[in-house]
Amino acid sequence: MTTDRIWYGGDYNPEQWPSDVWDEDVRLMQRAGVTVATVGVFSWAKLEPRDGYFAFDWLDDVLGRLHAGGIGVDLATATASPPPWLTTAHPDVLPVTADGVTLSVGSRQQYSPSSATYRRYADRLVRAIAERYRDHPALVAWHVNNELACHVPYDHSDESAKAFRTWLQDRYGDLDTLNEAWGTSFWSQAYSDWQEVVPPRAAPTFLNPTQLLDWDRFSSDAWLGVLRAEAAILREVSPGVPVTTNFMGLYKPSDYWAWAREVDFVSDDHYVDPAEPDAHVRAALTRDLMRSLGAGKPWILMEQATSAVNWRPQNAVVPAGWHRTLSLQAVARGADGVMQFQWRQSRAGAEKFHSAMVPHAGTDTRVFRETVELGADLADLADVVGTTLTADVAIVLDWDSWWAIEQQATPAQLDYAAIVRRWYTVLWRRGVLVDFVSPSGDLGGYRVVVAPAVQVLPAAAQQNLASFVDDGGELVVGYQTGILDERLRAVLDGYLGALQRVLGVHVEEFAPAAAPAGGTLPAFRIDGLAGGEATEWGEVVRVHDAEVLSTFAGGFLDGLPAITRRPGAAGGSAWYVATAPSDLDTLVKAVLEHAAVSVPWPPLPEGTERVRRGPVEFLLNHTARAVTVDGVTVDPFNAMVRRHGSSPSTSAPTGSPWSPKPHSCGSPEGA
Ligand code: GLA
Repeated sequence: MTTDRIWYGGDYNPEQWPSDVWDEDVRLMQRAGVTVATVGVFSWAKLEPRDGYFAFDWLDDVLGRLHAGGIGVDLATATASPPPWLTTAHPDVLPVTADGVTLSVGSRQQYSPSSATYRRYADRLVRAIAERYRDHPALVAWHVNNELACHVPYDHSDESAKAFRTWLQDRYGDLDTLNEAWGTSFWSQAYSDWQEVVPPRAAPTFLNPTQLLDWDRFSSDAWLGVLRAEAAILREVSPGVPVTTNFMGLYKPSDYWAWAREVDFVSDDHYVDPAEPDAHVRAALTRDLMRSLGAGKPWILMEQATSAVNWRPQNAVVPAGWHRTLSLQAVARGADGVMQFQWRQSRAGAEKFHSAMVPHAGTDTRVFRETVELGADLADLADVVGTTLTADVAIVLDWDSWWAIEQQATPAQLDYAAIVRRWYTVLWRRGVLVDFVSPSGDLGGYRVVVAPAVQVLPAAAQQNLASFVDDGGELVVGYQTGILDERLRAVLDGYLGALQRVLGVHVEEFAPAAAPAGGTLPAFRIDGLAGGEATEWGEVVRVHDAEVLSTFAGGFLDGLPAITRRPGAAGGSAWYVATAPSDLDTLVKAVLEHAAVSVPWPPLPEGTERVRRGPVEFLLNHTARAVTVDGVTVDPFNAMVRRHGSSPSTSAPTGSPWSPKPHSCGSPEGA
């Protein structure tokens, strides 16, 4: 992606409106400072109204008007929702649930990622669009499909079953190897013919865990296949035009480490829930994840709502000013684009109650005024475009572990994302910038790596983490890490594998909380470092060669280690944490101090965020009350920026004064 200004705009669906609205759209986009529109996401039925008959005139017209208005186009491949004529003629395209129900037309994403018929039709459409618009002067990027795997992450049709078998044959070669990998001597599950192998459909009780994990891997790959197929056509027909597809944040069904390798830049859709207390932290986490998926390169916030969405049971309004603050949060954390769903609020259809940049009530509205103001703010931030951020701390994130740990028939029903968020939140509150890494990723640039609940840890990844300690890093290993190998076989002799050497401990027995996720262990506390309650998890840890920093107190685990640390050879150390301490912050503080990680500013008021990207420092208030930082007052749900000289400094930065002064969000036109 090459751009010299921050992308600002949104999904533009002109086919939902008569053409006399289109000129007004362009005029208003100019007024709002829109630079890019995503066009054509759901246009298949309009672009190909009958099998093989393409109608591009209207899109020529739209793209021409946008270009004349100085607005670039992120052009979608239009494959997100096949038209009814296609699935009526070819019902084999329709996806099937685990219970055998075929999903119908009348909604969207009603296709199987494994369908050869879908692929044939989609390829033809993508090629036609690419050939027609590859040289269009408005074209700034290709937008593959839309939120791949959003509604139908798993398709259990016979065609998917066939594709699953092919995927397994590629992975295991022969049935004996598959039987061994899946441990099918258990419960008489041995397969004698490939035709017997099916997706994990509805079954009497627990399904084979490795079959389930491979199904998760296959399903992620099946959707990745859709991305790859479309991207290959686009790159063949229009080399040099960047290709992206919109991710969905921390999304369980899609292993975005693999997906991110297939796009030229990462983009993400994020919809905060204003009713959620830590929504801004959840947002910060996904921003950091997107930056990390793209190996630090700038990414695009591709969709967000200007105010309420329409798909939660209760759709809270986004308070005045907060949309801008969250947008600047994305920029601060590496985004070179701030886009919304959508430009003009739909008049009909299932999303007519979803907010947009131009609301039903028109331009004399709070939301449109905020739209215009945000455009002006982003235009002023062109100097951050292309700049990157450097984090000292990384959290290991792993989809195999997510899929495995949330299976049934496990020691406890754990919420993997919640465990990751718990660590992230404490670091966020301390103002520490965090990257995410995969277990086998390059850890070289970090001082601290936290590995929470990385349940599936192949030998090479165990070694990767152990080497980080040998090289002087500070490694924090949380419970349920290194328990299983990539085939979900238990790591014998005390779990943890190669990590036992650097941690100096092994695990003998699990003792999770009796209550569901997050619950307090009955009568268990921790004494020592991070003293307080032991929540969610406990276990019997045996120490060979480590300092015990805290112990469990009370009940079955009384006196056993809860937190240990073993110095590494090169100055770092390896910490083992056998529970979720209620006072996680004290532990994190100790780890950061030990690793000499410092933040260039003192602790911030609750809900306040301060991030430096390139020459710009961002001060963001995500709360409903004014906060004062360094003598500067930031209004509720407001953001301020200031500039520094070119070299980022680790000491307290000084720069130009904070701006802008209190924002005008919410005052009527003309006021
Ligand atoms: C997703 C989709 C959009 C729209 C929004 C509504 O992000 O990509 O097409 O449905 O949700 O929030």
